[in-house]
Amino acid sequence: MDDFTFNPFDPDTRRDPAPVYARARRERPVHRHAGLPIVSIFRYDDIQSVLRDAETWSSQFPPPPGVDAARMPPRSMLGQDPPSHTRLRSLVSQAFTPRIVRRLEPRMHAVAAELMTAAVARGEVDFVAAMTYPLPVVVIAEIIGVPIEDRDQFKHWSDIAVAGLGSGLFAPPDMARLQQLEGILREMGTYFSRLADDRRGAPREDLLTGLVQAEVEGSKLSHAEMITMLVLLLVAGNETTTTLIGNAVLELLAHPAELARLRADPALLPSAIDEVLRFSSPVQLDPRRATRRVELRGEVIEAGQIVVSWLGSANRDEAVFADGERFDIARVDNRHLAFGFGPHFCLGANLARLEAQAALGALLAATREFALASAAPLPLHPSLVFKGVTELPLRLTPS
Ligand code: HEM
Repeated sequence: MDDFTFNPFDPDTRRDPAPVYARARRERPVHRHAGLPIVSIFRYDDIQSVLRDAETWSSQFPPPPGVDAARMPPRSMLGQDPPSHTRLRSLVSQAFTPRIVRRLEPRMHAVAAELMTAAVARGEVDFVAAMTYPLPVVVIAEIIGVPIEDRDQFKHWSDIAVAGLGSGLFAPPDMARLQQLEGILREMGTYFSRLADDRRGAPREDLLTGLVQAEVEGSKLSHAEMITMLVLLLVAGNETTTTLIGNAVLELLAHPAELARLRADPALLPSAIDEVLRFSSPVQLDPRRATRRVELRGEVIEAGQIVVSWLGSANRDEAVFADGERFDIARVDNRHLAFGFGPHFCLGANLARLEAQAALGALLAATREFALASAAPLPLHPSLVFKGVTELPLRLTPS
């Protein structure tokens, strides 16, 4: 038990964290990281109770040591607690209700089919460039109302915005990266301010117009809050959904019997996507800061200490999931925590599910077979938060 180690940066652990998670759940469900004010937790019940209690477990973090608070970007709703979190979230939640998102479904299928036709014509593609990146970015750009021609610019911004996520928890802040982040936040601010000015003069049926109107009403949303919201929405849904679609392809390739089952019964697609979310969770960790002294399974956590919930571990917890280490695309009652839990539960969960279903549906329909086109280990996402790859070379055999 004493030789238990957990290094979240270790590439082998990042590729397959399941064995270390299983051991942690058994032997070290509350694990202190030596020399750091950080505690990792691994069990489903503990994680659920932390994420549901925003009073004890805050989403607001102080700037990293040595970094001036004034230099930090303004906090988005993701980094706020109720009631300010509730106010911000209520301004945009209408745009992501299941009913509204369903209306976008035909458009998602059309975009996915178009991307797939182009991919199959080439025979061999990087599926990230061909599908998993463009589909989510086209959809969110249309929801917000930003020109899709700018999508390469969005990719550049998103990549920089998320590359360092999570690493500051376990290592000193990377000043060069923070500076780069400041730079792109300024660029995004200028970009969105210009678009917001356009909408003031010529309102449209989009989220940007809705936010501009909330800003006009004054007390609802300040200009800085509006820009931060737009940055969050543009970034939050991109890398996450890209990762989910890539992980779905990888898990189906690793489990050929499940792939055959899905081909035979495409009605399993929704439960298959939820099983990928559980089994290969795109977002692995979710941090909170203790607002008071608390005990967790007998371990004292002092006020100010950070508790990291390992969602990927909760999602394999044998106390909740029967045969949790098995990838089962027809799993029922799949109460995974891949989208978080409680007040910050992912706003884009419905959207992400439908996008992933559209992408996988298009891949299955357009191909008789698909296979990895490279035997080399695929490059891991640079951020610790994500479990996924940034390139996915596929050979496609048309149907
Ligand atoms: C597979 C795809 C996705 C995954 C795995 C995912 C995961 C998550 C998780 C774990 C959280 C909770 C963070 C916390 O507890 O602090 C979250 C929050 C959030 N997600 Fe997603 N997400 C995905 C897709 C999307 C999409 C498509 C959008 C589009 C708008 C989106 C927007 C958001 C926003 C705005 C929040 C913050 C909600 C709040 O603070 O109240 N996500 N997401």
